[in-house]
Amino acid sequence: LLSQVGQLTAEVVKGRRAFLVTHPAIERFHGGAVRSSLEAAGFAVTQVVIPAGERQKSMSRLTDLIRQMLAAGLDRNSVLIALGGGVIGDLGGLTAALFMRGIPYVQIPTTLLAMVDSSVGGKTAVDLDDAKNAVGAFHQPRLVVIDPDALSSLPIREIRAGLAEVIKYGVLGDAQFFDWLRENAVALTSYRQESLAYAIRRSCEMKAGLVEQDEFDTKNLRAALNLGHTVGHGIEALGGYRLYRHGEAIAIGMVAACRIAESMGVAEKPIADSVVQLLRIVGLPVRPKAPVDGTALLAAMLKDKKTTEGTLNFVLPTRIGHVTLQPVPSDLVLKIVSEL
Ligand SMILES: NC(=O)c1ccc[n+]([C@@H]2O[C@H](COP(=O)([O-])OP(=O)(O)OC[C@H]3O[C@@H](n4cnc5c(N)ncnc54)[C@H](O)[C@@H]3O)[C@@H](O)[C@H]2O)c1
Ligand SMILES: [Zn+2]
Repeated sequence: LLSQVGQLTAEVVKGRRAFLVTHPAIERFHGGAVRSSLEAAGFAVTQVVIPAGERQKSMSRLTDLIRQMLAAGLDRNSVLIALGGGVIGDLGGLTAALFMRGIPYVQIPTTLLAMVDSSVGGKTAVDLDDAKNAVGAFHQPRLVVIDPDALSSLPIREIRAGLAEVIKYGVLGDAQFFDWLRENAVALTSYRQESLAYAIRRSCEMKAGLVEQDEFDTKNLRAALNLGHTVGHGIEALGGYRLYRHGEAIAIGMVAACRIAESMGVAEKPIADSVVQLLRIVGLPVRPKAPVDGTALLAAMLKDKKTTEGTLNFVLPTRIGHVTLQPVPSDLVLKIVSEL
């Protein structure tokens, strides 16, 4: 699909100026294919390669990009092409949302996480100081091009981190998919194309299904997607966003949610052990790497924008394939996390 990006883009936008944003490692492996495809379809391409890392999701990078777009003569009919993981997708998406009050953009996710999660749903953002995703907008991409081939160059740690979100979809809504993941875990971590393609397809169907019912996240219907994210975000923040990849923290958060569900009697039967088993096969952590400071964790969890007025709202599995929303007392959360 990477070599068809030009044609596909030409079908959904009017202008023929494209602004391609990516990272060095991605540029090296896949930039050429995307650029020549765009050029073959008649696009004049301006390419900007920015360093990798969450720090690039910033207001200063965003204004830099807008300056470069103005200098390149882009107008309201131009298209922004975000070639990369969630960082490029979120930053590129918000830049497209703001440039001249909004221009079309195309997501070409190159990490498993971006393919199964961030490229679908239209949420875009940058961080402000320590506040993650503090500045953002809903801006749907005109097109999302997912080529599993792009994963061939992705480091294994990133594949594993993406699989945490994939496993999440099984736990929150599809027991059959969860079983399929158990049977195909080794194929997935061995970069087997067909297995990855199926896992991506099923994950996108599930995310799109939830997003379509609640595009602007106002009816709480997207909430199930937050399974593992209350504790996960807290742990990620305590690690200064360096100790854990997002998916690794979510894996730990999912185990915590399962144990909480069991201890509150919300789970119909034990589920944590089978989730732990699958996470382990995939090579994901199932407990924090370092002892967790309870007070700091609580503070981080309460700061998360998914808490409302100081209550810790949890997505708790009742069984594999089904979740429920419930407030959980903070002392129980801390007890479970310390026992992990
Ligand atoms: N908008 C949403 O709905 C949403 C959802 C989930 C996460 N996010 C955001 O996504 C971000 C994390 O995204 P991520 O996990 O994709 O990380 P990332 O974008 O930082 O990419 C991870 C690393 O992989 C490299 N890389 C990417 N693709 C590659 C490839 N094909 N080959 C070789 N190297 C490659 C990148 O250069 C980078 O160093 C966070 O900022 C998070 O907030 C957004
Ligand atoms: Zn996530």
